[in-house]
Amino acid sequence: MRLPEDSELPQPARPGPPSVDLVSDDDRSVAADSWSIKSEYGSTLDDDQRHADAAEVLLTSGNFRAATSDYSSDKEEPDADGVSSMLGLQSYWDAAYADELTNFREHGHVGEVWFGADVMDVVVTWTRNLCIQIAQGHLPTDADDVKYESSEDGDKYLCGWSVLDIGTGNGLLLQELAKLGFSDLTGVDYSEGAVALARSLADRDGFPNIKFLVDDIIEKKLDQQFKLVMDKGTLDAIGLHPDGNIKRIMYWDSVSRLVAPGGLLVITSCNSTKDELIREVENYNRRGGSQLLELEAKDNDTCRDPPFRYINHVRSYPTFMFGGSIGSRVATVAFLRK
Ligand SMILES: C[S@@+](CC[C@H](N)C(=O)[O-])C[C@H]1O[C@@H](n2cnc3c(N)ncnc32)[C@H](O)[C@@H]1O
Repeated sequence: MRLPEDSELPQPARPGPPSVDLVSDDDRSVAADSWSIKSEYGSTLDDDQRHADAAEVLLTSGNFRAATSDYSSDKEEPDADGVSSMLGLQSYWDAAYADELTNFREHGHVGEVWFGADVMDVVVTWTRNLCIQIAQGHLPTDADDVKYESSEDGDKYLCGWSVLDIGTGNGLLLQELAKLGFSDLTGVDYSEGAVALARSLADRDGFPNIKFLVDDIIEKKLDQQFKLVMDKGTLDAIGLHPDGNIKRIMYWDSVSRLVAPGGLLVITSCNSTKDELIREVENYNRRGGSQLLELEAKDNDTCRDPPFRYINHVRSYPTFMFGGSIGSRVATVAFLRK
């Protein structure tokens, strides 16, 4: 199941929130295969080198779908193979958030809730319960359903969890996590408009302590580690860049630095199934956390373990309608940083 092609997307505004229809199934397929681009990648020698390194990993691994051919520059147009789309381009998001900021200022609208409010509810509740279980010393296996009955004493287990939401958009995910007891919350997005919108909404809604920063997570400027890193729809967007497969390798390299040892990465995707995400992480681990990391480890004289281990995933999820197409489902998968 695929989300609409670019031609079906409003320009530049994005489609409205999907409606949901609850079903139960682990193996959602899916796809938002249309998202876009004008990034600053490739603007420095360092970035060129990182692209080249990631491309080499891609070509030698043989584990990813075919790479796009020109890794040294960003293209303005989606690839002919239809894998990339407008939603992979920063210019798309800048234009979208400019519209959303205007809508917020004129009408108080919060903007898009990606994958819908029901999915967001599931993600935050499930993540909270997982964090509480881990804080209590129970590391769930794949066979365990993540459940936590009592809500009253949960907060005391959450105070140690610093949270980073990458590609935070309007930042509502962080607001929901704050309502559930998380208190150290940071959101980053490479679009200044997203950060302005998220800041305005958080202030309006009574969450002045949530921090928001403009940052491109692939360029790894944020020099801090977090116990919990959330990604809802951002890896999907990155994968839709014309150089999406290369960007995905660079993404894993970046998040492996952002998640503190013993911490969690929780990815919600409509473009990859649970099994595809697990396979992607296994491939990353198999390369020893990527050749990029290895090169840097050599420089720093440090030794790195394979960074991530799959621990659990959401088992029951809504499907959604998108642009009139039959609904597809989302996957939420948690990886433990070793
Ligand atoms: C599908 S939206 C999801 C927004 C938000 N996570 C949510 O669930 O509502 C993808 C977001 O990722 C951001 N994004 C894409 N690539 C990024 C990157 N390399 N660094 C930071 N943000 C990025 C976009 O600006 C956009 O806000």
